[in-house]
Amino acid sequence: MDLQSLRINGDRLIQRIEDLAAIGPYESTGSCRLALTDEDREGRDLVVTWMKDLGLEISIDGIGNVIATRPGNIDGPPTLTGSHIDTVATGGRYDGNLGVLAGIELIETLIENEIDTQHPVGVGFFTDEEGARFPPDMLGSLVYVGGLSLEEALEIEAIDGAILGEELTRIGYRGPAPCPAIPPRAFIELHIEQGPLLEDEGKTIGVVTGVQGISWTEYVVKGQSNHAGTTPMHLRHDAGYVAARIATEAREVATRMGGRQVATVGRMNLHPDLVNVVAREARLTVDLRNTDETLLVEAENQIKECVNSLEESEGVTIESRSLARFEPVVFDQQVIEIVSETASDLGLSATHMPSGAGHDAQMLARVCPTGMIFVPSKDGISHNPNEHTDREDLVAGANVLLQSVLALDAAELQGTQQ
Ligand code: GLV
Ligand code: MN
Ligand code: MN
Repeated sequence: MDLQSLRINGDRLIQRIEDLAAIGPYESTGSCRLALTDEDREGRDLVVTWMKDLGLEISIDGIGNVIATRPGNIDGPPTLTGSHIDTVATGGRYDGNLGVLAGIELIETLIENEIDTQHPVGVGFFTDEEGARFPPDMLGSLVYVGGLSLEEALEIEAIDGAILGEELTRIGYRGPAPCPAIPPRAFIELHIEQGPLLEDEGKTIGVVTGVQGISWTEYVVKGQSNHAGTTPMHLRHDAGYVAARIATEAREVATRMGGRQVATVGRMNLHPDLVNVVAREARLTVDLRNTDETLLVEAENQIKECVNSLEESEGVTIESRSLARFEPVVFDQQVIEIVSETASDLGLSATHMPSGAGHDAQMLARVCPTGMIFVPSKDGISHNPNEHTDREDLVAGANVLLQSVLALDAAELQGTQQ
């Protein structure tokens, strides 16, 4: 058959998205499947059932990454696609899930049309992409590419105190396949944009050029608890006030620097957390991102300066711990061109853009030619149950994925990372 006219089955893709979203539902349209929870296990079991139903060979590695492969005409590493199925606690139904389910759909399309590929084709989901329960984000793919040892990863403590290795064993996903793994021959990930740019520009496909750098730091401020009514202002060592100042500084650094610098304080807890007690301790996180490594370091330094001067002026101690630090990544030129040409061949409007969110593809880019495809997010909303992508965009993205995988299968890959 004419491979260029091959299309995925949109109804089947949407049905699988709905079926997976029914596990760990959150506020009717959203999903809550934090990594390695019972809900994550249930989601994994369902996706693995779909993979098995297609007769794929399934491997589960020591960090719980699951890769399902259909053989090609020749042996060797697969052309791999996939993403993640864990979510933030208040997530939507498309983040990550789309990439995995579109990968399954494309393989089913190949099978039912009896299309053999030159190389094996694989679809995978990586453990704990979100990092919301066990930092850092992209943890499974980081271990997969050898960026963090399995032993270290298994020791990571969750925000709820659980230990990663124990949770992985508990849910039955500590597998025998080795990590780091043998790299795939190429990796391509379909994902929702999670930002407003495609919608603003009225484009259907984002040809992703790379991923911005990420810096996550946790601060623990230690002051002195005291009576809210009797303690004069100049005698306070108020951890709550200091945390608020760090949060304000994060915002101001991003505003001052402008460009692509963003800053978020997404967690903040006070102790003892009482109306009439000056807080003794505050714990907060700062998430900084930029496409330019030098500017990201500059933002980190500005926050550090503020933290140091607050220690001095407020008489508190501030401990800091890095939770995640990844430099910006530039995707492979050949994969970028394949995505761009595929979108154009399918008659879809497209634009080149960097990714604002972190993705497993940024880890895979360390070991093989890698790229990504974005589809629009309504109102640019994500990590929110109202995350939405129109059906026709989901299907368009999955067709770009299908045709890009076929093009990658046929291509002599240069493996040139920029
Ligand atoms: C992870 O997906 C992130 O971008 O925070
Ligand atoms: Mn994601
Ligand atoms: Mn996410």
